[in-house]
Amino acid sequence: MSAAVIVGLSGSFSTPSKTRVLTEEAVRRVATRFEKNSEVYDLGQFGPELGLARSFNDLGEEARSIVDRIVQAKALVIASPVYKGSYPGLFKHLFDLIDPTWLAGKPILLAATGGGEKHALIIEHQLRPLFAFFETQTLATGVYVSERDFAEGRLTNRAVLDRLDRAVEQFAPFLREHRQQERSFAPASHLRLQQQTAAAGF
Ligand SMILES: Cc1cc2nc3c(=O)[nH]c(=O)nc-3n(C[C@H](O)[C@H](O)[C@H](O)COP(=O)(O)O)c2cc1C
Repeated sequence: MSAAVIVGLSGSFSTPSKTRVLTEEAVRRVATRFEKNSEVYDLGQFGPELGLARSFNDLGEEARSIVDRIVQAKALVIASPVYKGSYPGLFKHLFDLIDPTWLAGKPILLAATGGGEKHALIIEHQLRPLFAFFETQTLATGVYVSERDFAEGRLTNRAVLDRLDRAVEQFAPFLREHRQQERSFAPASHLRLQQQTAAAGF
């Protein structure tokens, strides 16, 4: 199976999960905006070995393959539920098993869900420093969502969806470099053509 360009990771092991809904919505928007393929995983898919693992190699095959796909991705969406004002212990444990160099330079859209608004700064105070440790490029706009932003299991708050789109747009320098290159070559080739025309005496 070839690596997905966009990979989403929801740091929740609940079913159903608001964090998974948010992750899927964000990934769907990134994939549509930049016409890339995508996948979404959640903590529940890492299996019961996750809590007991002391190193990456203690993880089950499925869990190791998910980490591999996260590491191979060109861009990540990582969302966590708030537990006691921070991310769940198991979420941090997963990242404790990941080599410090594996995520370096990766652009990441950070997002979180909580019961209320009180812990909205989890993104700035907990998630961003964790991913700074890994030397990733976290997008400037993080997206925090509380229970009242959902209706019938879907994210419905227009302001939140607009903020999500703003964050998604910040992937542009990472996911559109090919088209940007084409654009930056265009004036140069135009100039070259002019020079050739002048040299030919036209
Ligand atoms: C153990 C536990 C601790 C929680 N602590 C907080 C908290 O400190 N602040 C908050 O706003 N919500 C808290 N919540 C609520 C969850 O963050 C919220 O319901 C979240 O959307 C759950 O995401 P999920 O549906 O993906 O599991 C807590 C929930 C649990 C189960």
